[in-house]
Amino acid sequence: NRLLKIGLFGFGCVGQGLYDILAREKNLPYQIEKICVKDPNKVRPLSSEHFSFNPEELINNDELDLFVEAISDADEAYDIVSAALRKGKRVVTANKKLVAYHLPELIALQQEFGGVLLYEAAVAGGIPIIRAVEEFFSNEPLVRVHGILNGSSNYILSQIFLQKKPYAEALKEAQDKGFAELDPWLDVAGADSRHKLCILAAHAFGRPLAPQEVAFFGIDYLGARDLEFARLNGCGIKLIASVHLNESGQIVPLVIPALVNETDDLKVVEQEFNGVIAEGTYSGPQLFKGKGAGGHPTGAAVLSDVISIGQGYQYGYKKLKRSQTQPALALDYKIE
Ligand code: HSE
Repeated sequence: NRLLKIGLFGFGCVGQGLYDILAREKNLPYQIEKICVKDPNKVRPLSSEHFSFNPEELINNDELDLFVEAISDADEAYDIVSAALRKGKRVVTANKKLVAYHLPELIALQQEFGGVLLYEAAVAGGIPIIRAVEEFFSNEPLVRVHGILNGSSNYILSQIFLQKKPYAEALKEAQDKGFAELDPWLDVAGADSRHKLCILAAHAFGRPLAPQEVAFFGIDYLGARDLEFARLNGCGIKLIASVHLNESGQIVPLVIPALVNETDDLKVVEQEFNGVIAEGTYSGPQLFKGKGAGGHPTGAAVLSDVISIGQGYQYGYKKLKRSQTQPALALDYKIE
């Protein structure tokens, strides 16, 4: 079994998570050959020969078998991923903002140049939810997909409700633990959930959504009165991302904080966990719960894509419907 050589972009929480897992799982036939990073002066836990500061050097290195993109800047990630796909390469990305904004184009690039892109780590961290909803999509129509897609917001809400911590302290913890985005506004304003919902909608319903089409509200919207109201009524509050088709077949996406009571399956999803309920027309609701953020869970999801891409797995894009993508709700609530 030949060792497959990986070119890794980014060595933050996700990149280091992947590196660490591969260092522990010595029997896997994958090796991180080169890591492209931005700042030459940053102190890193590996010696300098592992690193490059020039993305093109990696993309043009034909000895590399596949690429993993794990940087936070979506524009730079777009340049890297699209350049690699133009060369017909196999690429794994964890960048939800990149995929949400560019999915139709990234699909076209794969089809034109014969490369492959997988991004299971981009939605719900360690939960293999993209594959799960793709399975539904091939087997039975989904009624609705909804859940908690942002680990940081959920962690903050858990700290506020369970530990009675102030918002700012809980946010700082989510940042220190490596759950939050570099710009935590994305987490607390619901924008990160919105990106993930766009990707889920494409795979669950065959309707790629642009982020601008999805109304979103975040936990930064909540005040002391909302928290008190929830407590008095024996409820928690969760940031819920939801998408379904209405009676007219229009897609209805929304990200909004919602009250959850004891009977709600999502109530038990606490801390940095994500929970997604996929409701099949015939099989009924199914809850997927797992860690939605952090180096190891996200690194494990990236690794699952690395292994799958090595085995020839591709997403079932052929079923994507390019018409009728106008969301029903966003017509009323277009926010940007
Ligand atoms: N900031 C993200 C979150 C990381 O908190 O869910 C995982 O996508």
